[in-house]
Order: sequence, then C-alpha cells, then structure tokens
Amino acid sequence: MATTVRTLAAKQSFSSSLRARLAEARIHTDSLFALVRPGALTDRPIPERHRLIFYLGHLEAFDWNLLAIGAARLPSFHPEFDKLFAFGIDPVGGGLPDDQPSDWPSETQIRNYNLRVRGLTDRLIARPQGFPAIEPDGSPDTLLQVAIEHRLMHAETIAYLLHQLSLEKKISWRGPTEISAEVPRQESIEIPAGVATLGQKRGVAFGWDNEFEQVSVQVEGFRAQKFPVTNAEFLEFVNAGGYQDRSLWSEADWQWIQSSSTSHPLFWKRVGDAWLWKAMFAEIPLPLAWPVYVSHAEASAFARWAGRKLPTEVQWHRIAYGSPDGSERQYPWGASAPARAYGNFDFDRWDPSPVNAHPAGDSVFGVSDLLGNGWEWTSTQFEPLPGFRAFSFYPGYSANFFDGSHFVMKGGSPRTAACMLRRTFRNWFQPHYPYVYAKFRCIED
Ligand code: AVJ
Ligand code: FE
Repeated sequence: MATTVRTLAAKQSFSSSLRARLAEARIHTDSLFALVRPGALTDRPIPERHRLIFYLGHLEAFDWNLLAIGAARLPSFHPEFDKLFAFGIDPVGGGLPDDQPSDWPSETQIRNYNLRVRGLTDRLIARPQGFPAIEPDGSPDTLLQVAIEHRLMHAETIAYLLHQLSLEKKISWRGPTEISAEVPRQESIEIPAGVATLGQKRGVAFGWDNEFEQVSVQVEGFRAQKFPVTNAEFLEFVNAGGYQDRSLWSEADWQWIQSSSTSHPLFWKRVGDAWLWKAMFAEIPLPLAWPVYVSHAEASAFARWAGRKLPTEVQWHRIAYGSPDGSERQYPWGASAPARAYGNFDFDRWDPSPVNAHPAGDSVFGVSDLLGNGWEWTSTQFEPLPGFRAFSFYPGYSANFFDGSHFVMKGGSPRTAACMLRRTFRNWFQPHYPYVYAKFRCIED
C-alpha cells in the first residue's frame, strides 16, 4: 500500500503547470530574438556583456546542462556548445571581452542545437517518472523552476541589451507608450519603527539560494519619498551641475564618471537644448513624470545632493511591506496576485510609465510605484542572509557576487516577470552599470 502511494507521488513529481510555464517562457524569449534584424545578432549592444548571439545559445545550454546532464545524466550530443554557452560574463572590473563576430558559431548551428535540446528536454520532463533530483537541494520541481526563472531573468537581460541596440537594427512592433502626464508633487512619508522580514523559510516555496533563510530585523523610524525620483527631479540635479561636483561622488564613483565621460543618465540624449529619452523603439521628448533610470553611483550622488540617502534593503522592505500595526504584507498592495492595475511589470510595456500611474499598487504607508517600473537601488551590499547555503547544482549563482562590489536592488521593472515580484526576491548589480532598468527613491533618517 505504502509503496503504491510512493510510486504515484513520484509519478506526479512534475506538475504540468511547470511544463506549461517553461513552454511559455520559451515563446517569450523566442519573440525577443525575432525583434533582431538579420545581421545584428552578432552585435554587442553593451560592451561589458556578451554579443546577442551568446544568449541565443545560453538559454538552451543552461537548461541542458542543468536538467539533462546534471539531473538525468544523459550523454552530451554537443559538448563544445554545452561549454561555450554555459555561463555569461559579469561586467565587474577586468577588461572588456575582445572576441570577434566570426569567433561564434552560425545562427543556424545554434538554432539546431536549441531544437535538439528542446526536443530531448521535453521528452525528459514529460516522462511519468520525471528525472532524478540532484541531491540534496535540487528536487525536480526546484530544477524546473530554476530553468524557468533563469530564462525569464534573461528575458529582462535581453530586453535591456536590445534597448541599447540602435533603432534601425530592431523590428518595432509597438509604438512608444503615452508620455504626457503631470509630474506629481514629491512627498515625504513617515515610516514608523517596526519589523522587516527578509528571506523565507526552507521547504515552503521556491526561491533562489540567496532568498534563504528567513530573518526579522527591527528597523528605526525614518521618512521615505512617496515616488521614485522622476526625470523632472533629476533634471534639476543635472542643471545644478551635479555631474561636475566632485563632493557629491565617492572616489570610485567619480573615477567612473570621469573615465566613462558620463554627464547625464544613459537613457537621455541631448539634442540642441532639448533632452530626448531613448525608448525601446523610438526617441521621445524626455518624459518628466517617468522615473529616472540611473546607475547606483548616479543615484547616490543625487541623494547626497538632495541631503538624503538611498534606503537600505531592510528600510525598503519596511516601505513596501510594513504597516503601522506591525503586520507585513505579501505585496505592497496586499495579498492578491500581481495584476496590471498594481504596477508596470510582467512585460506589459517596453518602457516606464508615470510614477503615479498605479495608485492601486501603493503600500500601506501610501508609498507608490514600488513593484515594477524599474528596480530600486538600495545602499545595501549584496551579502548572504544568515543560514545561506549555495545551491549545490549552481554554486556560483549568488556566491560569486558576495564580493563587496554589488548592491541589492528590489522591486522589478517593466520587463520583470510576475513570478519574480515575490517579497524575498533579491536582484543585484555593480554600482557602475547604467544599462539595467533601475530607478531609486530617497529616505531621511
Ligand atoms: C540576478 C539578474 C543579477 O543577470 O547577472 C542570469 C541573473 N545569473 N544568469 C544576471 C543571472 C546567471 C543575474 N542577476
Ligand atoms: Fe544566465
């Protein structure tokens, strides 16, 4: 009797909904590559990252290495590609990659590899017995979720790479979003002292290794801005000479803006005495009510100029999930699943929306635009939570970045999938990386 039950349980170890989610994620990433005009696939729109063509092979090689080779122990049919496309590059320190387009396999060769990977992987995950776990932490469900979320994270990577690809090299299938909006008046909101809970307990739900374990932190009271800093507010900083004022920048940040000749946000473009915003498929007059997208270095300089600070990770949790009675919400708006009315996320748009466009998504304290519309920089260095254990099947996913050179980002962007809007999800980037869809808001202690 007991044996029968166990067999049945094993047979159902793969939920069909995970398979459906993987299929959906593939359709999504396929549609991104379909935007690239012929010939542009070997472009490198961001100098610190791989050429676009790497990502075409990476998504499948990752799934193959994890599910087929790692878990099911199938023999490789193309060891060279398995290795070539296994890992991306982190743009920290070091020199820039100097490979040539001709160093890469052809698009056709990669697409053939991908088809074969998908065919074999699909057969694997459709088998009634599924595939074996990678002990001790890689249950079949966990591995499938890793594959799904890894692909969806790269749906965002690819979007911000394509954002930097020149307009004539991509196929526009959507015009610019509406931009006219009155800039809302910035407000400072009191966030009383209280508890912020970071991370989650093991064994309940899926999370990446850096989301474990759960820890509650008592946070002092402070004041937070209701809205993320808009292009209008940031324009005052630019006009006040913020990029020329040495005193506003740390030594390393100043070195970076000097060596990169940065004098305004990457997404802005000066034409005569007007500013344009470089949207995904068009250049449009600077949308003043949109959040400004900037690097951590620029966000920090603005905060210093304004006599304020960036929030720490726990302060951000208080702003987004805390309440006066001490309870904590699942999402800023409550417990209901992410939906359009709550924010600009889940691939709804290619570009931001006004910071006051989603009041239904406000937190208990009345703070707006927390999930979606751009990740938010914190002043917290990316470090493990107490009780951290690296995934045995992907030891470098987080641990390679606990190096004091990355900062935690929270929230999400227009190109962040809904599943990664969970409270415990942590993103991170180095402070001199202006390409990611990242905004910020300031606090006062
Ligand atoms: C978690 C978004 C910082 O893009 O570098 C994808 C995600 N890691 N493949 C990144 C990731 C390996 C990672 N971030
Ligand atoms: Fe990756």
